[in-house]
Amino acid sequence: MSRVTKLAPVEGAYNISKDLPNRENFDWTIITKHFSWTHTQKINMAYECVDRHVEEGFGDKVALHYIDDNLESQLTYSQLKDETDQWAKVLKKHGVTKGDFVFVFLPKHPSCHIAMLAAIKLGAIVGPLFEAFMEDAVRDRIQDCEGTFLITNKEFLPRIPRKDLPSLSTIFITDEATEDDTISISEEVKQIENLESVIEWVDFNHGLNIHYTSGSTGKPKGIIHTHRAMIQQYVTGRWVLDLKETDVYWCTAHPGWVTGTVYGVFSPLLNRATIVIHGGRFQAEKWFETIEKAKISVWYSAPTAFRMLMSKSDQVIEKYDLSALRHVLSVGEPLNPEVIYWGLEKLQLRIHDTWWMTETGAQLIVNLPTDTIKPGSMGKPLPFIKVEILDDQGFPVTQGQIGHLAIKASWPSLMREVWKNEEKYQSYFPFGKQWYVSGDLALRDEEGYVYFQGRSDDMINSSGERIGPFEVESKLIEHRAVAEAAVIGKPDAIRGEIVKAFIVLNPGFQENSNLLEEIRLFVRSQLSAHAAPREIEVIEELPKTKISGKILRRELKALESKRSSSAPVY
Ligand code: WT7
Repeated sequence: MSRVTKLAPVEGAYNISKDLPNRENFDWTIITKHFSWTHTQKINMAYECVDRHVEEGFGDKVALHYIDDNLESQLTYSQLKDETDQWAKVLKKHGVTKGDFVFVFLPKHPSCHIAMLAAIKLGAIVGPLFEAFMEDAVRDRIQDCEGTFLITNKEFLPRIPRKDLPSLSTIFITDEATEDDTISISEEVKQIENLESVIEWVDFNHGLNIHYTSGSTGKPKGIIHTHRAMIQQYVTGRWVLDLKETDVYWCTAHPGWVTGTVYGVFSPLLNRATIVIHGGRFQAEKWFETIEKAKISVWYSAPTAFRMLMSKSDQVIEKYDLSALRHVLSVGEPLNPEVIYWGLEKLQLRIHDTWWMTETGAQLIVNLPTDTIKPGSMGKPLPFIKVEILDDQGFPVTQGQIGHLAIKASWPSLMREVWKNEEKYQSYFPFGKQWYVSGDLALRDEEGYVYFQGRSDDMINSSGERIGPFEVESKLIEHRAVAEAAVIGKPDAIRGEIVKAFIVLNPGFQENSNLLEEIRLFVRSQLSAHAAPREIEVIEELPKTKISGKILRRELKALESKRSSSAPVY
C-alpha cells in the first residue's frame, strides 16, 4: 500500500455536505433551531435524548442494543422513555431532587444509560464512575463533592467504602433483592403506577454531569458540564460522527470516561441513532463479532484498541463480515499514521481522528468526513472553533512552530467549573479569559491542520486514559516497603504510554520480583487497574529540585527515553 500523505474524502453520502456552514459567518441558530426548546423554552438533556423522539413518532425505533457473551437485548425509544421515567420516580421517591449529585457505578450495560438519564430527568448532576475503579478511586470522587446518592449493583457494592462516605445517604441497586440497607430499583419500579413524566425543566447553565479527571498535581478534579452542552454534542454527532437515524453506532468507551458519556450516551441519542453497548472486556474476536452481529455502521474508538486489533487482525479479521461499517473515528491519544493505513487496507475506510478533553465537553479539532485527512494530524478546528498555538507569554508562534494548543473561549460545551476549585479553573486561562489553554503542545501547518506534539505537564496518557502521577505516587508510598515514588509515562508501542514507577525502598526491604509484584497489585486492587504501574524500577534516590525538593519527573522521563534498549526492567 502506498503511503500517501493526503487521503481525500469519499464523495457523497454525508450529513454535513448538506449543511456545512461557512466558517467566516457561523450562526448558531442553524443548530439551535433543531431543539424543541427553541419553541417551548423547556430545557432538559434527557428529554431531548429520549422523550421528544417518542413524541415525534419514533418510539418503535431501537435506542439501545446490548450484546455480551451470553445475552442480546434491545430497548426501543419508547421503552427507554418508560424505563427512565420509572427509575426517575423511584429516585424521586427516595429524595433525589434538582441539583443533587447522583453517582452511577455500573458496568457497560443498558442499566448504566437508564440510571444516568433517569437522574438527569430529575435535574440531578450525574457522576458516572468507571467500572474498574477500586475503593480509593470511588472514595476520592464521592467524598470530593459529598455525593448523597449512588446507583450501583450487588457485584460492585463491596468496592464502595461506605464507612468513609458519611454524605452518602442512599444507595440504589439495580438487582432484584436488596443488600444491607440498599434500595432495589427493580423491586420498586413494580410498585409504580402513575406513568406520567417526571421531567424537571432546568436552565442552560444547570449542572448536567461531573467527570473527575487527572492533572499532573493533586487528586482528580471534578469537571462540571451543563445542559447547554447538548447544542455542541448534537451538532458534532451530526457533522463529525455523521450520525443519521438509520445508523447503528458503537462507542467503545465506558460512560465513566467523558467519551463514553458524551459520545456513548448523549450525542447518539440526540441524533436518534441506535446505540450498541458491548458488555465485557476487550477481545479482538468479540469486537469484530459485535460489529458483524449488530451491523454497526459508525464506530468510535481509540488508538490503543485499533493497535490491539491490528496486532491480531491478519488472523481474525477475514473471518468477519464488517461490510455495514461506513465511518470510523478515533479519540484520546495520538493516532499513528500506521493505524490509518491499516484501516484503509483492512476496513477500506479512513479512520477519522478527533481531539478534545474532558474539560471541553465535546470535540473541537476533527477530521470531518468531507475533509482531506493528513495522517499524523488531528485535523482542523470545527467551523465554530478558533485555535491558536501560543508561546509561553501567550503570543501566537510563527506558523510551524510548537507551542501551547489554545482555544478561543467560549463554546457551548466548555466546562462550567472545576468543583470547589476556582483556582484550578482559572489555571486553564493563564493569558486571560479569551484563551483556554489545553496543556497540550501542538503545531499547525499552512493549511490549518493541527499536529499533537505531547503534553506540557507530567500527565500520563495510557490507552487513551488520563492518569495523574500524583495519585499513583500517593498510593505507592502507602505500601510499607515504599519510601518514595515518582511516576512517569513510558513510551509503548501498543498503549501509547505505560505507567512506570521509580521507587526508593524503605530500610530493611530487598528488591525482588515478588515484592515488586506485591506493590503493583497493591495499587491495582486499591486504586484501579488502569493506574497500576506496569513497570516498577527500584532506585537509590529520586531526582529533586534543590530548593523546593519537588520530584523532577522530567529527568526520569529523559532517562527513560535515552535508554536504547526497550527491554522491561520488571
Ligand atoms: C487529553 C484529554 C475527551 C477525549 C478523551 C480523553 C489527549 C485527546 C487526542 C488526539 C492526541 C489526544 C490530549 C488531551 N488527546 N484526543 N486525537 N490526539 N492526543 O479525554 O481524559 O480529558 O484527556 O487526551 O493530551 O489533552 P481526557
